[in-house]
Amino acid sequence: MSELPVRTERLVVRRFAAGDVAAFAAYRSDPEVSRYQSWDAPVSEVDAGRLVANFAAAEEAAPGWFQYAVELAGELIGDVGIGLHDNGMQAEVGFTLARPYQGQGYATEAVRCVLDRVFDAGVHRVSADCDARNTASAKLLERLGFRREGRRVQHTWANGEWTDDLLFGLLATDWPSPVPAIYACRPNVLVRDLSTSLRFYRDLLGFGVGWRWSDPSGRFLAEDDPDEPGTALVVREGAHLILTQVADAHPTRLHLDVNTTTQVDDLFAEWHGRGATIAEPPSVRPWGMYEMRLHDPDGTVLRVSAHPA
Ligand SMILES: CC(C)(COP(=O)(O)OP(=O)(O)OC[C@H]1O[C@@H](n2cnc3c(N)ncnc32)[C@H](O)[C@@H]1OP(=O)(O)O)[C@@H](O)C(=O)NCCC(=O)NCCS
Repeated sequence: MSELPVRTERLVVRRFAAGDVAAFAAYRSDPEVSRYQSWDAPVSEVDAGRLVANFAAAEEAAPGWFQYAVELAGELIGDVGIGLHDNGMQAEVGFTLARPYQGQGYATEAVRCVLDRVFDAGVHRVSADCDARNTASAKLLERLGFRREGRRVQHTWANGEWTDDLLFGLLATDWPSPVPAIYACRPNVLVRDLSTSLRFYRDLLGFGVGWRWSDPSGRFLAEDDPDEPGTALVVREGAHLILTQVADAHPTRLHLDVNTTTQVDDLFAEWHGRGATIAEPPSVRPWGMYEMRLHDPDGTVLRVSAHPA
């Protein structure tokens, strides 16, 4: 097995260290994050310190739990745990991501990296279970190729009620599961005034704001920056909408989100090879995405993009 840390496309997967205590305590204290988990929020800094010290001292290849820290741009954003069976051939997986980083594929990327290591080390089977109401967790496991193997009805007593568990399994022979190219299609909705639309989706309908891009400043806005004309992503449960305020109306746009830039190139080759006219071939755009564009017969613009490595 290679040494930790490991770099993925956007993340660093590494051992825990003493400097992680505050961030770890913060996201594990979020009641939304702990909702279907075995611990109670809030998690004090003292308890977090004890846990992080244990994680940092654990041996990755030894039986028992090993916790991987997941880092994005120098910040701890979550963790992935592997519980290795005494026989060294079976393991369990668990994962947690701080709320602001959910919905962007980071957990999939981090768990995929950890599963690569586990199967490389000779593990035959990885199991996982989750509360049946934890759809984000079940979707993540299925996205990675886990097979849903069953449901244990009213198996767990949690927070004063009986809850169902979903059971999942993944075999070394099924790994790596093919990485899908297009993993989401998000409509780009034209809006007259972005501030008004954000107030509607965010304040009235309870959508979260993923990011805001300002056209006048040509940059992503920070959380406390006021709204500016441009584009914003709003997300609630499985629905992602990209709201765009532009000076001149443009035709309907759809964002086809692709996992890697190589897959964007492959789609370009495939569609170009079949005779589709590509309006703009793949290139890195000012907002950092690797993107190509094509038009369907009605003029709908398909924006096909991935994060550059
Ligand atoms: C479980 C948990 C880690 C899943 O997090 P997540 O953000 O849904 O998973 P990912 O980071 O992989 O993001 C996937 C989502 O981002 C979207 N996405 C964006 N970019 C993506 C990319 N490059 N690759 C894959 N998905 C991407 C996917 O479409 C998906 O959205 P959807 O759920 O609306 O379909 C998170 O909900 C969590 O921490 N929950 C609290 C702790 C918990 O319950 N853990 C599990 C215990 S069993």
